Amino acid sequence: MLVHLATLALLAVGILGSESPRFVAINLRCENLPEPSYVDRDAPRLSWKTQTSEANWHQSAYRVIVASSQAGIKADTGDLWDSGKVDSPDSVGIVYRGKPLPPNALCFWKVQTWDAEGRDSGWSQVGKWEMGLLQPSDWGDAKWIGNGQPGPAPFLRKEFNLKGPVKRARLFACGLGYAELHLNGGPVSPGVERDPGYTNFDKRVLYVAHDVTAQLKLGQNCLGAVLGTGWYDVHDIATWHFEKASWRGRPRAIAVLKIEYKDGTAEQVVSDSTWKTSIGPILTDGIYTGETYDARKELTGWDKSGYKESHWSPATVLDAPKGKLAACPCPPVIIGETIKPFAIHEPKPGVFIVDFGQNFSGHAQIKLTGPAGTSVRMRYSERLNKDGMIQRSEIETFMEKTKPVQPFQTDTYVCRGGGSETWEQVFSYSGFRYMEVTGFPGTPTVDNFRGRFAHTDLKSAGSFACSNELLNKIQHATRYAYLSNAQNIFTDCPQREKNGWTGDAQLAAEAGLMNFDSTTLYEKWLNDLEDAQFPDGRTSIIVPTWGWGSGNSHPAWDSAYPIVVGDLYRYRGDRAMVEKHFEHLKRYVDGLAKLTKDGVVPFDSLGDWVPWSTETPSQVTSTAFLCLDATIVAKLAKVLGNSIDVEKYTDLAAATKKAFNDAYWDEAKGVYSNGSQCALSTALYYGLVPEDRKERVFNALVADVERQGHIDTGIIGAKNVLRVLSEGGRTDLAYKIVARKEQPGWGWWIEQGATTLWEDWKGESSLNHIMFGDVSNWFIQWLAGIGLDEGSPGFRRFFIRPQPVGDLTWAKATHESPYGEIASSWKKDGKRFHLSITVPPNCTATVILPGSDSKPIQVGSGKREFSAQLP
Ligand code: BGC
Repeated sequence: MLVHLATLALLAVGILGSESPRFVAINLRCENLPEPSYVDRDAPRLSWKTQTSEANWHQSAYRVIVASSQAGIKADTGDLWDSGKVDSPDSVGIVYRGKPLPPNALCFWKVQTWDAEGRDSGWSQVGKWEMGLLQPSDWGDAKWIGNGQPGPAPFLRKEFNLKGPVKRARLFACGLGYAELHLNGGPVSPGVERDPGYTNFDKRVLYVAHDVTAQLKLGQNCLGAVLGTGWYDVHDIATWHFEKASWRGRPRAIAVLKIEYKDGTAEQVVSDSTWKTSIGPILTDGIYTGETYDARKELTGWDKSGYKESHWSPATVLDAPKGKLAACPCPPVIIGETIKPFAIHEPKPGVFIVDFGQNFSGHAQIKLTGPAGTSVRMRYSERLNKDGMIQRSEIETFMEKTKPVQPFQTDTYVCRGGGSETWEQVFSYSGFRYMEVTGFPGTPTVDNFRGRFAHTDLKSAGSFACSNELLNKIQHATRYAYLSNAQNIFTDCPQREKNGWTGDAQLAAEAGLMNFDSTTLYEKWLNDLEDAQFPDGRTSIIVPTWGWGSGNSHPAWDSAYPIVVGDLYRYRGDRAMVEKHFEHLKRYVDGLAKLTKDGVVPFDSLGDWVPWSTETPSQVTSTAFLCLDATIVAKLAKVLGNSIDVEKYTDLAAATKKAFNDAYWDEAKGVYSNGSQCALSTALYYGLVPEDRKERVFNALVADVERQGHIDTGIIGAKNVLRVLSEGGRTDLAYKIVARKEQPGWGWWIEQGATTLWEDWKGESSLNHIMFGDVSNWFIQWLAGIGLDEGSPGFRRFFIRPQPVGDLTWAKATHESPYGEIASSWKKDGKRFHLSITVPPNCTATVILPGSDSKPIQVGSGKREFSAQLP
């Protein structure tokens, strides 16, 4: 019999004196970003968290005010919006309902909250957002410009005069494929790379904005841009043939610099034919091939006023892309970490292999001194041959065999000469752990190189660690694989394809949401999914696409659309994306339902991809996904209060469930289809199993896992098996298959030296894929036990259900929920079990201590300790 004690430990956060309010709204966000400076939603969404020293804190009401000036907000006047006191516990997805916001507007805001007893917090600190450009006319006379010529990357420059001191200046720009913007002698935002983003450029092109007030000066100034080809002008010939994209054209940019002077007047500088253009050191840049840079051709001082531009030509005005200009809703791709190499070897004279000790996406920065014209070549790879040379046959396979042979993941740097030089590529990236360097002047050391991990700037929002080092390494590998594949879209791998394979993204979405503040990247990618959809609901297996991969139905991949919308609502509790995409989701599900025969999906399609030894017929998984999709759409219809669609899609889910059972249930064996782990777990997890069959199906799954002793699925089953085992009370068995070191399994990869997750159990393909990454979600939600409560979106209510299984002696996890940080940390001390948790303000946790007879305990916010006796 278990004895458990719930001891309550109130925690003084320590910021609040006796005079101050005991709670206050913090972490003010607009559109899920701290202080966004180019919002193009008419009604931006606001959110906040609460800081308090009080336990069991709940919000009963809020008041938001938004002012057009700092003075206004200081005086507590919301000239743009005053929500008034709203009785509501909500602090996420609060929609602005004030005066229409003009382009480039400044908005200051703050919030006051009331607790359950009706006491108020006083005002929060001031938050801010700025509006972007909302209409094509907001770009004034700005034109798309470039040089229109094949060949090296175009440089663009424009000098202009400022007549007086500047109060505020904003630079809005979009450069396709990529633009590095410069102002008065340097990049506008040092460290930020590869802006704006990758979309279907025929539908939407993304702009960014920068506050450049401090970079401007009285008198003559110089604005500039360097343009990369990116996904807009793909000229590398690979299987997906992006060189055929209808949007393709030579790089071009549009820009408008809006200047407000201190004397109240305003002015703008726009991109047009008065700009000048030249070519410089970037001789080639390609998304798959890499970059060639000849430093002898650098245009020293080109981005400063007074530069002699006599050899530059007038910029060419080029056609605007077909897509509409829209603000990029997510952070840019940045360098998140600089990695010092682990070792350098010289397997052949003059061939140096740099080992970064970590597989990642990004660049290598090279520092060297050499005579002018020295050409150094860098080729990137995930593997080494036995002889110590790089091996790339698994990842270069989709490059077409052209004549002359195209480079692949290769950079070439030609020295300027005359001193120390530092360089890294800017317009593409590679996926690698190893780098082969040839032509290096002298003998390099690790100090000549740095790895530069490039990915969308997603802040960490979760963690996991436990007493088993193997699992900690799997967690590490998952996080690196996730970030490596967060490249303004969700990609499959950073080396071979760099494509937005939808199945990979949907399978990793929950792990991504538990580990990272990735909301805005999912919101961005949902726009891409919207753009990829046909009127009849069909979509594409890679998104964005110019056409490759689109048109045919692949339910397990296409379901990314409903799944990601559903996951965003489940994990973040904001209904905005549901409202925005609901009609599209219906169109997709309706389209798929039309393709069924006797209620099941009758054609072969992508299914439980890269299985170990047992394949699951793809019609089984496809039909299961239809049921899941219909269930999600019914749930989302309920969120929107749309009872007609609740009924319609509940009926579709029920009909699909019946058809699935009619087609695939084997009464004699008590299994679905061939009884594979994937078929059984998927049927259970997606709600296809009638009540009276559940036990048999679960037992059959357990029996197969026990008999084989390992996971025997592809990517779909790998996600579902772990959850279904845990939900059925067999986390011990799930742990066994995750913690094993033999093949197949995550642990075997780690034993082979993996530092990111691999594409397949056999280790035959890419070594940096994320589609097996839900294991990290399982670590956090099951082993450490921070569990989503399906009835309570955004973790307003959640479970703490630690699972002290196997040889684990401790485990801990955190998750930064929309209401604040949730933490769960447990340890075993002989038979004694200790648990420490943090419940954020405005939330309630249902704590289930280990042991079959332990009753759930409801606890409010605060830090708490529990202990229990294990059997
Ligand atoms: C990609 C996968 C993808 C699959 C589907 C592969 O080449 O790398 O991650 O989902 O194709 O066919």
